Amino acid sequence: MKFFVDTADLDEITKLNDVGLVDGVTTNPSLIAKTGRDFVSTVKEICDLIDGPVSAEVTATDYDGMIKEGRKLAKIADNVTVKVPLTENGIKACKTLSDEGTMVNVTLCFSAAQAILAAKAGATFISPFVGRLDDLSLDGLQLIEDIVNIYGNYEFDTQVLVASVRSPLHIVESGKLGADVITAPPKAIWQMFKHPLTDKGLEDFLADWKKTGQSIL
Ligand code: G3P
Repeated sequence: MKFFVDTADLDEITKLNDVGLVDGVTTNPSLIAKTGRDFVSTVKEICDLIDGPVSAEVTATDYDGMIKEGRKLAKIADNVTVKVPLTENGIKACKTLSDEGTMVNVTLCFSAAQAILAAKAGATFISPFVGRLDDLSLDGLQLIEDIVNIYGNYEFDTQVLVASVRSPLHIVESGKLGADVITAPPKAIWQMFKHPLTDKGLEDFLADWKKTGQSIL
């Protein structure tokens, strides 16, 4: 199970990377806007820091514009993954860019039907948004199960990248379903460490160790 971090904040990426937890990064226009920084130079810095795929999203909505932007983004670094929305033009651009050897992440996927289109277009990643479906009282994780099953039936190479993750539970359930990748905001990944029994157990071990008067070094 690969861990991508869903942020364009370099400090946050660095902190998680220092613990060895970052296999890749996903950004989107909203996350770039949050940083207040230049898009291309931010993506370049992230690509220099992280070995794995770094998703950078096109903002054109027409096919020609997506291709021009996608080619420009792909030139930033070898590990750039061009992100395109799941629209007719996005799927067409996915096919063209994938045929050129560029990694493509098809984003804003909310149905299994859409996920099939992305796989047929040769996407490297499909990004179904679980949190935004849950927000509407729909079942985001059911969509993950459906896509994993369908892709498995046909041995599609497209990797299921669970996006719009809001909690450790989304990550654990995605793992149970066999999703290839999760992309989560840093907060959700840090929350995975937390368990009160770990804190209590450590406190007790250290108190007992102190009583022995010993030191390992
Ligand atoms: O990058 C796409 C995605 O993960 C968005 O998450 O929390 O804005 O629904 P969210």
